[in-house]
Amino acid sequence: MTVPERSDGLHAEDVAARIDALGSGADDISFLYVVTVNNPSATIIGNRERTALVRLASGLSRKLGRIVPLVLDKAYEDLIHDPLVERPRSGLLDDEDGVVFEIGTLSKIIAPSLRIGYLIGSDGPFLQALIQRTSDAGFSAPLVNQEIASWLLDNVLDRQLAEVTRGYREKAVAVRGWLDSLLGDAVVDCRGGQASFYYYLTLNGVKTGEGSPFFRCLARTTGNERVDGTSEGKLPRVIYIPGEFCVHPRGRMVEQGARQLRFSYGYEELGRLEEAVGYMAEAVQYARSLDSPTSAV
Ligand SMILES: Cc1ncc(COP(=O)(O)O)c(C=O)c1O
Repeated sequence: MTVPERSDGLHAEDVAARIDALGSGADDISFLYVVTVNNPSATIIGNRERTALVRLASGLSRKLGRIVPLVLDKAYEDLIHDPLVERPRSGLLDDEDGVVFEIGTLSKIIAPSLRIGYLIGSDGPFLQALIQRTSDAGFSAPLVNQEIASWLLDNVLDRQLAEVTRGYREKAVAVRGWLDSLLGDAVVDCRGGQASFYYYLTLNGVKTGEGSPFFRCLARTTGNERVDGTSEGKLPRVIYIPGEFCVHPRGRMVEQGARQLRFSYGYEELGRLEEAVGYMAEAVQYARSLDSPTSAV
């Protein structure tokens, strides 16, 4: 079950309302899972909301007579690059009942291939079960990777983080400029740009799903050589995550999701990103031309 976020991220009162609406069904809640810097939307949960969620999970745990873990996935928290954003406060600091479990990863700040993540929380049956399960499955990073990561954390992390966040900040500002100037009114909502490396866009009446003209134009699979290029010389493609994969298929955001997309500025250089936004503007035009009555002629 999902709870839609607002434009400034998830609000604890929306989660509380959703739980209240469940009535006695709330007894079946196993855990709450919150991504503190969201993926795909890159919105950042406010400290006030985080504290309220801890209180909510504590209250629910007391009511049900068991711990309902509040898992805070802080994978992108070290990549908050907008200097105006408040420093995130750990949920553990407000946790009197041992309900908070924070998950982190080195994937985003050092390298995904290290396969190192971690969890911090109070000892107890839940933590012991996780440890046992991890050991049973033998699912942990090789010791040599752990040694490498440990050395990197001790010796280069601060420098690495400063450099990485400076780079993402520069890209976030530049990409936002191109989204505004090249896509303009075609975008009705744009989230992100303060942390991590995503913008999450809602388009104005243009569908983004895999079968849509917008998607096929950017994938160069329309079947029209003028749009796709030739089989030997395909025009450049833009790869994005359609919103249909970012919303719960039976949730409340299906209709919006069909017009949304996640655009990543993580890997490509500035020039290529500008080009990509330009192709997206062309894809909007293409999709609209198919919708307009004259295209039927
Ligand atoms: C929100 C979030 N949490 C956790 C992860 C997991 O990262 P990894 O499995 O690479 O440690 C990702 C990766 O994309 C993510 O987006």
